[in-house]
Amino acid sequence: MDIIDVIRTRHSIRKYQAKQIEREDLEKVIEAGLRAPNAGGRQGSIIVGIHDAKLAELVGKLNVAQFDRSALLGNYVSEEQPSIIDDPNIKSGFYGAPCVCAVFGPEDFLYSVPDAFCCAENMILEAHSLGLASCIVARGEETFESPEGQKFLKDWEIPEGYIARCFVLLGYLDGPEPSPKKLHEGRFRIVG
Ligand SMILES: Cc1cc2nc3c(=O)[nH]c(=O)nc-3n(C[C@H](O)[C@H](O)[C@H](O)COP(=O)(O)O)c2cc1C
Repeated sequence: MDIIDVIRTRHSIRKYQAKQIEREDLEKVIEAGLRAPNAGGRQGSIIVGIHDAKLAELVGKLNVAQFDRSALLGNYVSEEQPSIIDDPNIKSGFYGAPCVCAVFGPEDFLYSVPDAFCCAENMILEAHSLGLASCIVARGEETFESPEGQKFLKDWEIPEGYIARCFVLLGYLDGPEPSPKKLHEGRFRIVG
């Protein structure tokens, strides 16, 4: 697929089959993340691929444990692929995705967040080109705050001074492909 077609046909997916993705595909998605542009050529982001549905579910619950719905109530994300903002009954921020990548960045670096999301964007495009469903998920910073979360960081050998910035969910779409979203008008100019 041409890159613009990959971009046009990708959707955030929040309904996943239980089927696990191949390790080889996970490695390709991680490589796409590691090859993302990064501020100052620093290559500061670290990616942890959680290739275990049960572990992904545990971390997904930590991801929503401190979620404050009140600030976002009324925000509507998707009827076809409802998010935790749309449906308070969803208990995992990872929506049952069997594989999840956590993207970490240095806590004290100005471009740590944009670097991580550049990784995430590369990863979801590569995932889509491989026929995988994906979704970027936020709230990395609070996900590992609890003692349980801190233990994961120790087990995964995350260096001191690093913090999770975002997640990339991976799996196979369960149900119909969501309809393409209409672009809002007036969002670009070409000058000169
Ligand atoms: C910075 C960022 C944070 C996001 N965080 C979440 C999230 O926490 N949970 C979620 O379900 N989707 C999240 N998304 C996915 C967006 O909801 C999704 O991209 C948006 O609704 C547009 O839909 P599309 O990706 O299908 O075009 C995030 C996307 C971005 C770029």
